[in-house]
Amino acid sequence: MTKEWSPKSWRNKNILQIPKYPDQTKLEEAEKILSGFPPLVFAGEARALKRGLAKVASGEAFLLQGGDCAESFQEFHPDNIRDTFKVLLQMAVVLIFGAACPVIKVGRLAGQFAKPRSGDIEEIGGLKLPSYRGDIINGIEFDEKKRTPDPDRMIQAYNQSASTLNLVRAFAQGGFADLHRVHQWNMGFVADGAIGERYKDIAERLDDALNFMAACGLTSETTPQLQETDFYTSHEALLLSYEEAMTRIDSLTGEWYDTSAHMLWVGERTRQLDSAHLEFLRGVANPIGAKVGPTTDPDYLIKLIDCLNPKNEPGRLTLIARMGADKVEEVLPALVRKIKDEGRIVVWSCDPMHGNTVKANSGYKTRHFNEILREVEGFFSVHSAEGTHPGGVHFELTGQDVTECVGGAQAITEADLSSRYHTHCDPRLNARQALELAFAFSDRLKKDRIINNSSVMKQVVAGF
Ligand code: PEP
Ligand code: CO
Repeated sequence: MTKEWSPKSWRNKNILQIPKYPDQTKLEEAEKILSGFPPLVFAGEARALKRGLAKVASGEAFLLQGGDCAESFQEFHPDNIRDTFKVLLQMAVVLIFGAACPVIKVGRLAGQFAKPRSGDIEEIGGLKLPSYRGDIINGIEFDEKKRTPDPDRMIQAYNQSASTLNLVRAFAQGGFADLHRVHQWNMGFVADGAIGERYKDIAERLDDALNFMAACGLTSETTPQLQETDFYTSHEALLLSYEEAMTRIDSLTGEWYDTSAHMLWVGERTRQLDSAHLEFLRGVANPIGAKVGPTTDPDYLIKLIDCLNPKNEPGRLTLIARMGADKVEEVLPALVRKIKDEGRIVVWSCDPMHGNTVKANSGYKTRHFNEILREVEGFFSVHSAEGTHPGGVHFELTGQDVTECVGGAQAITEADLSSRYHTHCDPRLNARQALELAFAFSDRLKKDRIINNSSVMKQVVAGF
């Protein structure tokens, strides 16, 4: 790694998973337009998230990250944004009861458009076209024109991200996220059935607490923090032309920030030590995530940390483990131990989605609810055994009533997949499945914390 860095120094490195744009002039024009657009997030917000993640690293908070595998132009609708936001709030409420600590909420939204693919070319009936790489690059339709990478799509993705973020900010700060509305988040198809009922119980317990606080004079009017919540955005920093154009100097600190999202992560397929993607991410001051799969070597992981977090800054780096339910307990301990022995400060988060993707007989990609839960539980068991903190979770989910993952209380079967399979990439949990999972691992978290984390109790006592 060279010491000098600039937002475009990645261009001298090896790069994988980027499109071949046929028209370079058009690409440069789009990059130029984007670099003159307003930032989507502010450096101060990214720093606030970093402070939150530093708390996660030390076990004083829990990270909940979730949203689409791939946002799409087609699914862009205020109801979809609202419903994803709502289910994340509901999960956060459930987790606060389980983890008894603040929950840092990070959406996979307002920028999660670019996708790594296993092949450059897709062939159907003898016709070969470029693979679909996400709506920011090309169209999903198997048509030559649509599949040709088009730089103008970056502008459309920016505009969609800006209005998504605008709505999310309004929800987070304009009263929708007020804890007194905890019942109203439980509407629509989620409210029916056992999970909706269980959520209602929790909401009633929260009501009691809020009533008690009101009797002590603490209402939304006197205590504005009850009225609003912090909500952050994140996506995979894959399309570096876009990320570079959104990178700006923060006038307060003189540091570079990628203003396309609060948090950016590097995927499993693009994080080679000499890669363009690591080169780009090492130079921006946002909180960074790195996906860590089952073949990761512990020594490599230290080198990755040397690159992305050389100053061992708490909250800077989140390692997102995506091992698969069968492997997590076998391969994660050596990695966790190595990081601990080397004194590196990281957030450990669990992505139980990407190691558990299977193909149904019908050809649909799917994931089994029980396997997803089994990976989260394995992740918790490893951290419990190693005496480290299971910092958070990372899900692909939507607030919509889709049928993309099988299982859960709704008992979605492989035969049901075709009825509402809308994802542009990987299968997502629907809102009910997501909430059901949150209940399941929140119960587990509660147990682990009582057994392991007497410091939480001490903190509570010290707080009174
Ligand atoms: C993703 O998060 O959608 C993804 C592609 O993950 P990974 O890099 O872990 O495969
Ligand atoms: Co995915």
